Amino acid sequence: MVVDFESIWANLPFPALVLGEDDRVVSTNPAAESLIGSSSRQLQGRRADRIFGEGSPVADTILQARQKCGSLMQYNAEVSLPPAPPLVCNLHVGPIRAAETGLLLLIQPAGVVQKMRQSLTHVGAARSVRAMAAMLAHELRNPLAGISGAAQLLALNVSGQDRELTELIEEEIRRIGTLIDRVEHFADDRPLVRGAINIHDVLERAVRSAQVGFGQGIAFHGEYDPSLPVAAGDADQLMQVFQNLLKNAAEAVTPGRGCIRIRTSYNSGVKVCVAGQDAERLPLQIEIIDNGRGIPEGMIGDIFAPFVTSKSNGTGLGLPLVSKIIAGHGGLVECDSEDGRTVFTVRLPVWQN
Ligand SMILES: Nc1ncnc2c1ncn2[C@@H]1O[C@H](COP(=O)(O)OP(=O)(O)O)[C@@H](O)[C@H]1O
Ligand SMILES: [Mg+2]
Repeated sequence: MVVDFESIWANLPFPALVLGEDDRVVSTNPAAESLIGSSSRQLQGRRADRIFGEGSPVADTILQARQKCGSLMQYNAEVSLPPAPPLVCNLHVGPIRAAETGLLLLIQPAGVVQKMRQSLTHVGAARSVRAMAAMLAHELRNPLAGISGAAQLLALNVSGQDRELTELIEEEIRRIGTLIDRVEHFADDRPLVRGAINIHDVLERAVRSAQVGFGQGIAFHGEYDPSLPVAAGDADQLMQVFQNLLKNAAEAVTPGRGCIRIRTSYNSGVKVCVAGQDAERLPLQIEIIDNGRGIPEGMIGDIFAPFVTSKSNGTGLGLPLVSKIIAGHGGLVECDSEDGRTVFTVRLPVWQN
């Protein structure tokens, strides 16, 4: 089979540009022409910072990629091409092997990435909710202990229907207690203890505990890259991350037909750059893929925010916790979902001595 790169280039669903020496445009695909609003011929030879603006996020990402001689991903960058209103895009900039100064710039406008969400935007919100959660959990324990004691005393002197009521009170108190435990877990702000960890060990432990608990009757498939280097992380906290992701996956699949895949891979050269921070290499990629019904329409933008849940007994604290822990590792968690296939991708740094 002969691969027709020309037609692939022409049919790429999002704007792509090849830049040469001095960041001048060498080639643009039709999607880039329509985004920028100029023809390929008009764009040829123009400098990227003239097109996207000096000091703009696009120019900045190109500059960083040049300085670091590697690939970069910049999430949620504003691409401003007046008179059109600014667009929020994900940018990918990477060298082209064939040409020494060649760079490939891919721009994914929000339309294309609408379904793909990262946890970054909600870290701040989670932090303030955490402070409140810690205070509330602490303040609720004392009165709850009082109510529980009173119910137990009452139970000694009543019988029949009244006894059922005191039992109901105690049962509900236990439920509130469990909820407070979970909130406290979420509010726990102990620093990470980063060490060299084998991510496969952590994943295996999380899968085993899922299999004997909430994941009974579900098929788990591990697809591990055996050459994966050790990760820099806190094993206990990462265990919580994967338990939460596996639990959500288990709760989303159809009973009897559930399948959860756990895949690891090494994504070399991909650096992730968060606005205002230096690019960090996050080559370790862990994907949790389920065949469930997918994230409800309209909710995908908010799943990492605290208290967002579609479950009658959900807390909406699982993914904010995941997001908090992964952010603490300098990593990234993303989600892409459609009916029958939901993927949570965790990216982590490699352990350096
Ligand atoms: N794998 C998944 N498939 C479908 N929906 C999911 C998945 N993971 C998370 N969600 C959605 O995200 C919401 C938030 O998840 P989470 O923060 O763990 O809270 P909870 O599980 O308590 O509802 C869930 O209620 C669900 O709607
Ligand atoms: Mg959950």
